[in-house]
Amino acid sequence: MKGLISIGSLGRDDLEALVRRSIEFRSRLDGHEPDGNELAGRAVANLFFEPSTRTRLSFHLAARRLGAIVLPYDPATSSSAKGESLRDTILTVAAVGADVMVVRHSRNGVPEEIAGWSDRPVVNAGDGTNEHPTQALLDAVTIKKRFGRLDGLRMAIVGDIAHSRVANSLMKAMPTLGVDLTLVGPSNWLPADTTAPTTDAIDDVLAGVDVLYLLRVQTERGGEITERFVSEFGIDRSRAGRLRGEAVVMHPGPINRGVEISEEVADGPRSLILEQVANGVPSRMAVLEAILVPG
Ligand code: NCD
Repeated sequence: MKGLISIGSLGRDDLEALVRRSIEFRSRLDGHEPDGNELAGRAVANLFFEPSTRTRLSFHLAARRLGAIVLPYDPATSSSAKGESLRDTILTVAAVGADVMVVRHSRNGVPEEIAGWSDRPVVNAGDGTNEHPTQALLDAVTIKKRFGRLDGLRMAIVGDIAHSRVANSLMKAMPTLGVDLTLVGPSNWLPADTTAPTTDAIDDVLAGVDVLYLLRVQTERGGEITERFVSEFGIDRSRAGRLRGEAVVMHPGPINRGVEISEEVADGPRSLILEQVANGVPSRMAVLEAILVPG
């Protein structure tokens, strides 16, 4: 794999292979097996130009668990703060010796732009409202681990879909993996150009899904939290009670308790939220390995 800018660049076989490898790495982590040396001597630059907790930490740990060196980067204390252009920063990171660049940026398209500036592979760790491919992978891993399959499952993505890079990546990955998607939200937050069914009536979909996937309202990208949104789309105990017995609730985090998800649902038995976080490390191990260790 040359890098991972969009999850849409991966076909079903590639995606399934990454899911399988992620699950193998998860077993290695769960078994407290010694860290590997698949990436010994390689350097992973973690270039986060936008806030992050779980994605940044899990890329860091994933690289370390495979024996790589991590180059941390903080724009506030780096030469970006002295007026260095993004392109000059990237050329510098490449010249320092990074073998792969993990990039998060608030502007759509930056990881792709960076991939054009140097010969180093780039992993998109979230760009604006565009894509977050490793989130879609770790979500597929989480669902596969819980249900034993992806094909034929039914998933609803709920909330601020218009501003969500996570939703965009899920909308590409899930149908490829055979998951049936429905998009639920206020009509102005639903994409016009989608083949998935859309609805603003959440109560009509609850009983029919295996996975209820909630999103944070992206206030930094134009999403607005209103009382109406909370009452019409927020998942509380009563709405969660209408889900099928086996159904799960997922969310990429960070969650806003009392907005898109209530306390009881976030901490309740259906919630896979922390399981998603736990699968972030092995999923990113699988991606870094696929890029840095040839076939
Ligand atoms: C998401 C992101 O940054 O796109 N968080 C994450 O990486 N798990 C979702 C969000 O911020 O709402």
